[in-house]
Amino acid sequence: MMAFKWDREPRRMTHVPVMLNEVLDAIGGPRAGIVVDATFGGGGYSRAFLEAGAKVIAFDRDPEAERRALTLACAFPTQFSFQRGRFSEIARRLRAMGAPAPHAMVFDIGVSSFQIDEAERGFSFQADGPLDMRMGRGGPSAADAVNHLSEADLADLFYHYGEERNARRIAKTIVAARALAPIATTLQLAQVIESVQPRKAIGPHPATRCFQALRIFVNQELDELGAGLAAAEAMLAPGGVLIVVSFHSLEDRMVKQFLADAEGRSNSVSRHVPTIGPAAAPIFVGGRSAIAPSPAEIAANPRARSAKMRVAERTQAPARLHSAPKPEGPALDLLRRRA
Ligand SMILES: C[S@@+](CC[C@H](N)C(=O)[O-])C[C@H]1O[C@@H](n2cnc3c(N)ncnc32)[C@H](O)[C@@H]1O
Repeated sequence: MMAFKWDREPRRMTHVPVMLNEVLDAIGGPRAGIVVDATFGGGGYSRAFLEAGAKVIAFDRDPEAERRALTLACAFPTQFSFQRGRFSEIARRLRAMGAPAPHAMVFDIGVSSFQIDEAERGFSFQADGPLDMRMGRGGPSAADAVNHLSEADLADLFYHYGEERNARRIAKTIVAARALAPIATTLQLAQVIESVQPRKAIGPHPATRCFQALRIFVNQELDELGAGLAAAEAMLAPGGVLIVVSFHSLEDRMVKQFLADAEGRSNSVSRHVPTIGPAAAPIFVGGRSAIAPSPAEIAANPRARSAKMRVAERTQAPARLHSAPKPEGPALDLLRRRA
């Protein structure tokens, strides 16, 4: 996640990567061999890794990120390469490239400020735009989900991915509203949600949790994160570091559970992680506690306030078997068949 400042002259966006100093510390100078930046975004992390002397293989599913990566490809032609792809494609792509085992894999998960601040990407209710939310631009959109999922599926989605207490009432109101006319824009959806739970003078916008839920669903973010963690287990060099910066509790809980299991501290496996079988010996070490941004960073960049970073070191133990990553969930399959 990044925060933006508008330069006065000329008017263009710049970004501030979250917890960059902590990420650089975690990678460590001597270990800065090959770094996989799994979430290129605006390239804030990648640039810092390159300036520290690392070779960077960056991934992002967003075609706009690919366009931004050209600047770094020109500035660091021998150190940097970019791959447009999802977390679930990282292991296969690295093998196909014949890349040496990475010394660090970094995931700064969630949505970038580029995505959230551009109304036409449809992630935000702050400005009107098409109800889209697709990071990779392909597949069913948030509008497809809102207009075609059953009332029960919508309610489950808002409850499980948004932790929205009024999920059932909101789903019912959406189904009534779309019977009159399709819900096509972010503000239309926000207004429907506000009719169930009105805005308060303070606190988050009442549509925040449902928008988060739709974004997670449309982009299959939890399954993707699971596949990314499995890729780190399979691909990192012994002694290499896995670094995950996350912004909401669902994601952090998944990373925490994955590390507890891979470190031999628990027997349960997240249903989103495509890993079969328990670890015979610890696969990662050191990932027990999360690191928060400093008060100074939060004061300078309020978007950093919910960030949590987890760092774990890969051991010599062999990786567990991984099933093929699930590309999509059943509800998304259903939508795709209708589209
Ligand atoms: C928070 S931003 C990263 C910002 C970046 N660290 C920087 O310094 O500019 C997250 C990025 O990850 C990408 N992303 C999210 N989920 C992804 C996935 N499953 N596969 C590939 N890219 C993903 C998004 O498109 C977005 O550009």
